[in-house]
Formats: sequence, structure tokens, C-alpha cells
Amino acid sequence: MSTAPNAEQRARWNGSSGSAWSEHAEHFERGYAGFDAAYLSAVAPRADDLVLDVGSGPGALALRIAETAHRVVGVDVSAPLVGLARRRAQAAGRDDAVFVVADAQVDPLPDEEPFDAVVSHFGSMFFDDPVAAFTALFRALRPGGRLVLLTWQGPERNPWQVEVLRALHPDGEAPIPPTDGPSPFGLSDPARVRSVLSAAGFVDVALEGLRAPHWSGADPDDAVRFTATHHEALLEGYDEATQGRALERLRALFAAHQTPDGVLFDSATWLVRASRP
Ligand SMILES: C[S@@+](CC[C@H](N)C(=O)[O-])C[C@H]1O[C@@H](n2cnc3c(N)ncnc32)[C@H](O)[C@@H]1O
Repeated sequence: MSTAPNAEQRARWNGSSGSAWSEHAEHFERGYAGFDAAYLSAVAPRADDLVLDVGSGPGALALRIAETAHRVVGVDVSAPLVGLARRRAQAAGRDDAVFVVADAQVDPLPDEEPFDAVVSHFGSMFFDDPVAAFTALFRALRPGGRLVLLTWQGPERNPWQVEVLRALHPDGEAPIPPTDGPSPFGLSDPARVRSVLSAAGFVDVALEGLRAPHWSGADPDDAVRFTATHHEALLEGYDEATQGRALERLRALFAAHQTPDGVLFDSATWLVRASRP
């Protein structure tokens, strides 16, 4: 395996995760939409703001910010997701939102001029070297500029992910993504967030805990279809009967979480704010 920085995440987001997110972007976005309002209100875009969106993915939140801000630049390591974000910007007639393929930790960041705000909606937890990445983001900000991140809290607060992984894994012992390395839970520990951001130079670091229902699908069949494609690697190498039993367990889990508004689980995030002095 290559030891280049972020090699694993680059491969993932240009491979299986990039395809899953491109194909099912609207499903993912509906899943975590319960946090949109709080995130956008923390970003609080102003009409003259130049905003850098890190790990902008399919671009939905960047496009929402561009409705108010002067200009938004999205950077993302995933070529397929940058392609989707560009198509969405074009369809929305937004030439004030541009999307660039770049690794925010390693590659030079677009430097039109210093950014007023650096923001990230679930896109800043995947760095091999978070201090190096946030130091680069700190330097991209103007003095007095602000940082706003939305990150997942720990596995125990996010059954929408952990219970699904356990149900799906044939041994019931699914590997839970780490809280101290590149993973959806990579910035879930408040002490780690504070130490990384302080080491990068940020001040006034504040974390606000949020909770919202996570929408996993319209009904159990929809949720199973979506989840099984997204996590198909977990079932690779198992025989058909074992895979069938895993999907049955998953379906039963989703059935237990069915509500009139769809399949819902509890989920929790951190809204992180900091600034460059
Ligand atoms: C969970 S997705 C979130 C996408 C989008 N912000 C959203 O909320 O819909 C995480 C994104 O971070 C991107 N990413 C991961 N590592 C990155 C890096 N080193 N530099 C830039 N983007 C990265 C991935 O390609 C992916 O699009």
C-alpha cells in the first residue's frame, strides 16, 4: 500500500465511496438534513464573504452558502464528486460556486485572496495529519476569519451508523471506524478537536453538541438497498447464505426503526467554531 499522505482516503473517495456518493447523493443529503439549518446558521454567510468549503463533496451545502456569500470555492479530493458539484452549480446557474479537485492537507489551496471563512460539512475528519491540514487551512484564512465545521460525535452517539455496521457484518463484530485517525469519527473527541485546532493556530475553539434524527430510507427495503450498496465491501468473500442472513438482520433493524417519516435513528454531531486571530 502507498504511504503517500491520505493515499487510502484518496483511493476510497475516487473509488467505492466516490461512486456510492455520486449515485446516491440525494439519499445521503436527506439522511443528515436535520443538521442543515444549524450548520448554515453557524456559517452565517455575508454578502461580501469569500468562503472555502473543505471536502465539499456533491456540493449541496456549498451551493446553499453561495446563495448569500460573494463566492464559494469547494475543494475535494474526489474527482467524481467535484464533477457532480460542478454539474449541480451549472444547473443552478451559480457561477459564484466553483469546485476544485485538491487534497486540502497536501495540495496548494486556491489563493485568489485570503478567505473570510473556511467551512466544512462532514469533510474535515479524513486527514492523515490533521494538524498539517488545519495549519494549511489556518493560513488560507484572513486574520479575523472564521472556521466552522460540522463533524460526527462518537460511535456510541451515532447508532445510525454503528448498529447498521453490526447488523450487516456476518460476524456481528463490524470494525467501528476509529476516533483517532481518518474516519467519520476522526474529529469526534472534543479534546482531540481542541488540541488539533490549537496546534494549527486557531483561537476561541468552541464545540456545540447537536442531535437530530438520521433518515436512513423511506422504508426498510429502501434503507437496505441503499445501505447494502454503500457497504458492499463488508459482505465480500462471504457465501450467499451468510450474505442473505446479514441482509435479513439489517432489514429487521430498519423495520424496528420505521416511523411515519421513514426509517429514523438517533444521530449526534459537533458544530465547531474557531477563528484566526
Ligand atoms: C462525508 S463526505 C461529505 C461531503 C459534503 N461536504 C457533504 O456534506 O455532502 C466527505 C468528503 O470529504 C472529502 N475528503 C476526504 N479527504 C479529503 C482531503 N484530504 N481533502 C479534500 N477533501 C477530502 C471526500 O472526498 C468527501 O467528498
